[in-house]
Amino acid sequence: MKSIFITEVHQGLSSTPKTLPSKYFYNKKGDALFVEIMNLPEYYLTLSELDIFQNKTQELIEALGLQLDAYFELIELGAGDGTKTKELLKVLDQKKYNFDYFPIDISANALELLKQDLNKEIPNLNVQTRQGDYFEILASLKMSKKPKIVMFLGSNIGNMNDELASKFIYNLGSNLQTDDKLLLGVDLIKAKDIVLPAYNDCKGVTAKFNLNLLDRINNELGGNFKLDKFKHQPEYTQKEGIAKSFLVSTTNQTVKIQATERMYSFTKGEKIHTEISRKYNDTVLNKIIANTDFEIQNKIMDSKAYFADYILKRN
Ligand code: AVI
Repeated sequence: MKSIFITEVHQGLSSTPKTLPSKYFYNKKGDALFVEIMNLPEYYLTLSELDIFQNKTQELIEALGLQLDAYFELIELGAGDGTKTKELLKVLDQKKYNFDYFPIDISANALELLKQDLNKEIPNLNVQTRQGDYFEILASLKMSKKPKIVMFLGSNIGNMNDELASKFIYNLGSNLQTDDKLLLGVDLIKAKDIVLPAYNDCKGVTAKFNLNLLDRINNELGGNFKLDKFKHQPEYTQKEGIAKSFLVSTTNQTVKIQATERMYSFTKGEKIHTEISRKYNDTVLNKIIANTDFEIQNKIMDSKAYFADYILKRN
């Protein structure tokens, strides 16, 4: 595990322009900062998707084509604390739909907390937690041959470039059967004055989240990054529809990382590209799914049309 981290950090810092993979944001401190981000007024994504799950629940159920008497498995990738999903689960339970809920997450702790919470709030619900790699778990669930709905919410797909997103969706499809559904939550392309503040909040939480990557390299790989010599810089144009996060060196400097046994030079103003957060519309999504077995069947948006939950049908 650590050797992949070392290799990826070395490769990223040796490339032009320099990059670091955003997956390394998420250690204990990064997880906590991301929870803080989700509660920021500027970070509209979470509230927008919650609006859909709270206020368009019936539309979601209809768009998914759920029938009261037909059993299905509701699988969620990266379930986290399940706040949004709980809104849907409550209604499905009240209306007596016949289903089981399979939350999948890398964090065993998050799953345990979610299960306890759901057992208390929706006692009739059968919760089958699965900890580990999404695709390994989907491969094992495939055996059941039961109709499935896979949820991937929060615009998490947006942290992959379009090529990776396409492969990811293709792989999901290969673990599903005809007529299964993918409920994909994505942030929509919109004006800069709304998107950019979501990645540049005035309390500076997103800046801390981004800089935590350097802190992690310092702590885990013996780096000597001076965090006050880098600043967080997000960029976005509506034309491209991709929010990008950078760490910019505020001076000419050299950084040493013990684990890679290398020094890395930065000129003043040089950027490390740390994250993309892709925004979508039908055209972008159709291109991404063009070589997969899915087609867009439906789309539910929040009241401001900031966010969409797409229903993709497996052909
Ligand atoms: C997890 N992911 C969808 C977030 C996003 O919006 O791209 C991560 C994030 N990065 C900065 N703020 C939030």
